[in-house]
Amino acid sequence: VTVDAFIAGLPKCELHLHIEGTLEPGLKFALAQRNGIELPYADEAALRAAYDFHDLPGFLSVYYEGMSVLRTEQDFYDLAAAYAAKAHSQNVRYAEIFFDPQAHTARGVAFDTVIRGLTRALDDAERETDFKGRLVMCFLRDFQAEFAMATLVQALAYKEWIIGVGLDSDEAGNPPVKFREVFARARAEGFRLTMHCDVDQKNSTEHIRQVVEEIGVDRIDHGVNALEDPSLIERIRARGLGLTVCPISNAHVTDGMKAAEIRALLDQDVKVTVNSDDPAYFLGYVAENLAALREPAALSDADLVRLQRNAIEISWAAPAVREEFL
Ligand code: ADE
Ligand code: ZN
Repeated sequence: VTVDAFIAGLPKCELHLHIEGTLEPGLKFALAQRNGIELPYADEAALRAAYDFHDLPGFLSVYYEGMSVLRTEQDFYDLAAAYAAKAHSQNVRYAEIFFDPQAHTARGVAFDTVIRGLTRALDDAERETDFKGRLVMCFLRDFQAEFAMATLVQALAYKEWIIGVGLDSDEAGNPPVKFREVFARARAEGFRLTMHCDVDQKNSTEHIRQVVEEIGVDRIDHGVNALEDPSLIERIRARGLGLTVCPISNAHVTDGMKAAEIRALLDQDVKVTVNSDDPAYFLGYVAENLAALREPAALSDADLVRLQRNAIEISWAAPAVREEFL
């Protein structure tokens, strides 16, 4: 896709971006070499050829395999610094960035290593550019709730570096209510809450109902299947809950970009936003997502502006950041 001048220049806000999903093949090879890790691919081209996903589990296995090269604080620094530079180049002014600590602690990398590297890179970017990034800690829903709770407790010592918590990974058989106690505790500790309700999952509308009615999230990641239930979409609209959708990601792991659904959400005044999810794997950062969606969703310039306003409105940015953006 070509990014036109309007999209390129638009000040942007991104709310659904997994930092581990920004690990580009070049950096993956460089970190593998630095850490003495042998990747099961001869070169970058062979690695890219493995990026052929048709569903969420297929993507996730490649995504987790790729993380093996991330070992030291400097590795996490380099990962977040590369994303911050890319985001800045696309005029992203503010991003809320997911990280998956359990994917690292489960293979012996300390929580402290992960969060220090990421935070230091975001702090440096904020000092040097007009890009600001904040961290949202995701729990992996295919692990047990006890591991999520232990991770939450571990994170309390770093509270000032984390603005919210989320839930990601494989949704099949892992409903939101599995994490009821974890999210209740997270809310009591002052974190904002979001959860993935991935597109076209087996119990999508029931999972969306759970996040709205039983978990009490502050927003929903993906969640476009709410359109199948008018009373659900009305509750989402009335509460001002945002949906962070990811068109190019959806094109890879579902049957399409969901452009008609995104158009419908805009037309029904739901606070929908456009995001990149895992841009190094799905081959599109936020500008490319907006560009890819522009014609299929019949997005006017005013719609593109509205998507950014929706994003900053449903963000958890401090009032000063919000005012600067709007
Ligand atoms: N982890 C990284 N990207 C994800 C996605 N799109 N859905 C669920 N878990 C994820
Ligand atoms: Zn995601």
